[in-house]
Amino acid sequence: MNKATRKTIIAGNWKMNMTPSEAAVAVKETAELVKGKNGCEVVLCVPYVDIATAVAAAAGTNVKIGAENVHFEAKGAYTGEISASMLTECGVEYVIVGHSERRQYFGETDKTVNLRTKAALNAGLKVILCLGEVLEERQAGITEEIVSMQTKLDLAGIPAEQMKNVIIAYEPVWAIGTGLTATPEQAEEVCAIIRGVIAKLYGEEIAEATTIQYGGSMNDANAAELLAKKNVDGGLIGGASLVPAKFAKIVDAAQA
Ligand code: 13P
Repeated sequence: MNKATRKTIIAGNWKMNMTPSEAAVAVKETAELVKGKNGCEVVLCVPYVDIATAVAAAAGTNVKIGAENVHFEAKGAYTGEISASMLTECGVEYVIVGHSERRQYFGETDKTVNLRTKAALNAGLKVILCLGEVLEERQAGITEEIVSMQTKLDLAGIPAEQMKNVIIAYEPVWAIGTGLTATPEQAEEVCAIIRGVIAKLYGEEIAEATTIQYGGSMNDANAAELLAKKNVDGGLIGGASLVPAKFAKIVDAAQA
């Protein structure tokens, strides 16, 4: 089996950017630029309040809309939170879970990442599960241990049949928003490690079918060489996804 057996996914993570009206414009512009580019799945993950205008703007195009987080309970007294069924009813197909900014600033742990992933999968969402080492961990030479542990804990108890809706995003924290990109070799090495852990957990076939993205300062200039790597099946893009022309060039790079 090889890369051809899995879907390449180019996803934008807008983070806390774009108002609803700005979102409508940006989604339309992106959709126009990526029209017919069916060599990869194109996803824009947007702030909750942008979902309605983003979904409307993406209707009838090949752009799918995602959310940036989801709560693990179905409903109840969780002020400020959003459930998986709220997202699906709004037309959301994807959701990011476990982004390093959630882990760093909002107390997200592997346990809550695991719970959110399960809730999202059970509601029929596709999950972009983010993990990756911080700089000190890379410098200490424990990247493999860290990403292996995160992969195991974040996927704990998730049945094999749901893995078709799990996308892993390897995002080295030191490369996010810093302009420092992992080299293609570094990205390939860690994506291969993650695939190896999935193989141990679920077997080779599922591991080979799982999309593993790279994220961290991916842009129109460096996307092609990152995406050329055997185990890098797409990208999760922050800053460059806010500029439709740049994002569309990354989508172009994924058409090969
Ligand atoms: P940047 O592309 O801005 O580095 O962000 C990456 C990221 O965090 C995507 O989730």
